Amino acid sequence: MKIAIYPGTFDPITNGHLDIIERATQLFDKVIVTVAVNSSKTPMFTGEERVEMIQAVIKQKRLTKVTVERFNGLLVSFAAKKKATAIIRGLRAISDFEYEFQMALMNRKQSNKIDTVFLMPAEKYTYLNSSIVREIARLDGKFRDFVPPSVYRTMKKKLKN
Ligand code: COA
Repeated sequence: MKIAIYPGTFDPITNGHLDIIERATQLFDKVIVTVAVNSSKTPMFTGEERVEMIQAVIKQKRLTKVTVERFNGLLVSFAAKKKATAIIRGLRAISDFEYEFQMALMNRKQSNKIDTVFLMPAEKYTYLNSSIVREIARLDGKFRDFVPPSVYRTMKKKLKN
């Protein structure tokens, strides 16, 4: 059984992330979306909320090979615990490369049992990231096309409160 983890902050999950998840399911038997809760970022949504939003999307899209978990600590240790042999990362543009290159090599230095697999999302998602979606949403701009419908509703609700 080939298991991959797909780590990130997912604050919130976007259609770009979803595109990567769907591609990963073509390559692996099981994909664990791994929500980092101890990142240096100040998230809009709690770890629990981010997990719930992803769970709703997985259910709605009937992605039976995909599960979601919160994680704290070193990524490669989490991967080993889950018996994952690959870390999935999305590469959107050249600007992602340097950061991703550093992370992939550092992760390999920590454990040579795990490889990083880079997947490219559809071109229409290459300009997306979670911060820009949050900013547009906060400023009452249009963001319906960037996130799954359930995430859109959750964001609208959060901003109303
Ligand atoms: N579509 C849309 N947006 C995408 C995307 C895609 N396909 N792929 C990445 N992004 C965006 C994210 O939304 C995020 O945007 P933001 O900065 O506006 O929030 C940005 O690109 C990159 O962030 P993300 O993919 O969430 O990763 P991250 O850099 O926040 O997370 C971890 C990095 C959590 C994987 C990394 O810090 C980690 O492994 N931490 C654990 C501790 C550890 O082991 N450290 C050593 C690592 S070498």
